[in-house]
Amino acid sequence: MNKQVQQKETPKVVKGLEGIYVATTEISLVDGENGRLYYRGYDIRELEANGTYEETAHLLWYGKLPNKKEYDTICKRLINYRFLPDNLLQMLHLLPQGTVPITAMRTFISALAAWDPWAEDNSRDAELENAMRLTSGIASLLAKIHRIRTRQPMVEPRLDLNHATNFLYMFHGKDPSPEAAKAMDSFLILYADHGFNASTFTARVTASTLSDMYSAITAALGALKGPLHGGAMEAAMRQFQEIGSPENVEPWFRKAMEEKRRIMGIGHRVYKTFDPRARILKERARALAEQSSEPQWFEIAEKLEQLALSHPYFQERRLYPNVDYYGALVVYYLGIPPEFYTIMFALSRVAGWAAHVIEQHADNRLIRPRALYVGPEPRPYVPLEERS
Ligand code: ACO
Repeated sequence: MNKQVQQKETPKVVKGLEGIYVATTEISLVDGENGRLYYRGYDIRELEANGTYEETAHLLWYGKLPNKKEYDTICKRLINYRFLPDNLLQMLHLLPQGTVPITAMRTFISALAAWDPWAEDNSRDAELENAMRLTSGIASLLAKIHRIRTRQPMVEPRLDLNHATNFLYMFHGKDPSPEAAKAMDSFLILYADHGFNASTFTARVTASTLSDMYSAITAALGALKGPLHGGAMEAAMRQFQEIGSPENVEPWFRKAMEEKRRIMGIGHRVYKTFDPRARILKERARALAEQSSEPQWFEIAEKLEQLALSHPYFQERRLYPNVDYYGALVVYYLGIPPEFYTIMFALSRVAGWAAHVIEQHADNRLIRPRALYVGPEPRPYVPLEERS
C-alpha cells in the first residue's frame, strides 16, 4: 500500500456497494425476506390486480394515486406525447439497419431533448411534464424502431387506447387481444420501479450534478444495457429455446447442474424467496400460453422451475424465479423479438427513473463517493528522451 498517500485509517471498501445505504427514498420498498414490493406504500399485487400503468406512473411521480380528474388529465397528457416531432422521425431512418435496438433508443431519447422546450428546466413542474413526454416517447420510439428494422410501415398512435394497448397496436399494427393488453399493462406496472438498482442509481448520480432528466435517463439506458442488469430476460428466453421441448427439461437440467451452469431468471440479490413480480407474471404467461400455438415454452419454464425448487442446491441457497423468468415468457407471447427485451424493461422503468430524478432534485446532494487509491507512490516526471 502506498505509504505517503495512505490515509490515517484504511477505509473499508465495499465492492459493488453491496449492502450500503446511500440515500433515503419514498418511492419503492423491496422486502426481500418476505417477497413483497411496494410503490409508495401500495403492494404491487393490488396495483396490478386493480390499476393501470397510468395510475402507477401518477403514483410514482406525484406520490399519490390519482382521483378521476387527475387520472383523465394524466391519460390525456400521455396521449399527446405519443406523437413524436417530424424531424426526429426522419432521424430514425438514419441509423444503420442492424443497429442494436437499445443503442438506437439511447440515441433517440437523448435527441428527443432537443425538441422539448422544458428539457433544461429542473423545476418540479417541468420535470413532471418531461416524465410524461419521456414515458410516451419511449413507447412510440420502441414501436417505430421495430417497424423500421422489420421494414414495415410506421403505425400512427391511437387516441382511444390506453398506454399498454396503444404500444402493442403501434408495434404490431393491429389490435391486441384483451389478454395481451392486460398482460402488457401488468408487465409495465410490475417493472416500473425497484429501489436503487444499477440504472436507477445511474440516473440519480447524473441528476445529482443538477443535470437534466433527459441526460439522467439516457445514462440509465446505458446502465440497463449491460447483461448483468437488463439482459437477463433475453437470456432466460434463449435458455427455454435451447431446452426446446418439455421432455428435454430433465436431461438439460441434469447437465446444467453437472456443468455448474447458472439457470437464467433464477436468483436475486435482494429476494431470498419468490420474487412477487414473478408469481403474477407466471399467471399472465400461463393465460397467454393457453391461447398460443406455442404453449411448450410455458410448460418448459414451469417444469424447470419445479426441478430447481425441489433441488437441495437451490433450496440451500434460497434461489427462486425472479421477475425476468416469467417476464421473458410474457414478452415472448406478446410477439416481441428477444433483441427488444432490454428496451421492454426500459419502457416500464422509465416511470421509476423519472420519479427518482424528481426525488433527487427535490433534495439534492451531489453523489460523489471516494475510491481507495492503490496505485504507484508519487514519483518524479521523467522527460521523454530519458525514458527507456
Ligand atoms: N443458477 C445456479 N446457481 C446460482 C444462480 C442461478 N441462477 N444464482 C445464484 N446461484 C448460486 C451461486 O453460484 C452461488 O453459489 P455458491 O454459494 O456455491 O458460490 C450462490 O447461488 C449465490 O450466488 P451469488 O452470485 O453470490 O448471488 P448474487 O446475489 O450476487 O446474484 C444474481 C444474484 C446475479 C441475480 C444471480 O442469482 C444470477 O446470476 N442469476 C441468473 C441471472 C438472472 O436471472 N439475473 C436477473 C436478476 S433480476 C433483475 O436484474 C431484474
